[in-house]
Amino acid sequence: MSTLYGRKYRGKGDLIIELGSGNGQTLVNLAARNAKRELYFMGIESNLSLYKESCSLLKENDENITFINDDFEQVISKFHNESVSMFISVLPHPNYIGKEREFNWKNFYEIMLSKMKKYGQFLLITECTNELLSEVTVEEYKKWRTWLISSFESIGFIINVTVDNPPPALSSYYLSKFNNDPNRIKILTILMGK
Ligand SMILES: C[S@@+](CC[C@H](N)C(=O)[O-])C[C@H]1O[C@@H](n2cnc3c(N)ncnc32)[C@H](O)[C@@H]1O
Repeated sequence: MSTLYGRKYRGKGDLIIELGSGNGQTLVNLAARNAKRELYFMGIESNLSLYKESCSLLKENDENITFINDDFEQVISKFHNESVSMFISVLPHPNYIGKEREFNWKNFYEIMLSKMKKYGQFLLITECTNELLSEVTVEEYKKWRTWLISSFESIGFIINVTVDNPPPALSSYYLSKFNNDPNRIKILTILMGK
């Protein structure tokens, strides 16, 4: 794995992977805060121009972070089981969280779970909207949250923490956009183990 995708990753240290890393902002900020450099960050993004934007954020001496321009399903499938310390997904595409695609994405998260270390974590930040893009009621939100949590539990994840907001220390292009519309877009953060 390390030779295929992680130019600088040598299989040492805890590996943290962001799925759909967009313009790279989230991961670059996280990696910059890891002063001891004992964590290694890998962002996977299929969109070429976003991938290039991510790479433009990297500095020459950034040894603990890399970006890959590929389909994360393909990349993840090549990892050894129990090899990844943490997966992060910030506002995943509906193909990986939408109700109508549940059957498809469950298969992917099952595989992802098998790649997570025994005490690994999955940090998911996702949004609740409704079909009419009108205000999301408290009832709608609670129903959606219950459905989402039970879906991930049925895959085999253990829900450790849920917060009805994005983590304040984490930034992303889409989080900034969605934060401007709190009535129509409700953000949920879930930290899961296995
Ligand atoms: C809604 S955006 C969120 C991007 C970023 N996390 C943010 O919050 O700004 C979802 C991203 O996932 C990427 N994506 C979707 N499916 C993917 C896949 N199978 N492999 C890699 N990237 C994917 C899209 O290109 C897009 O950039």
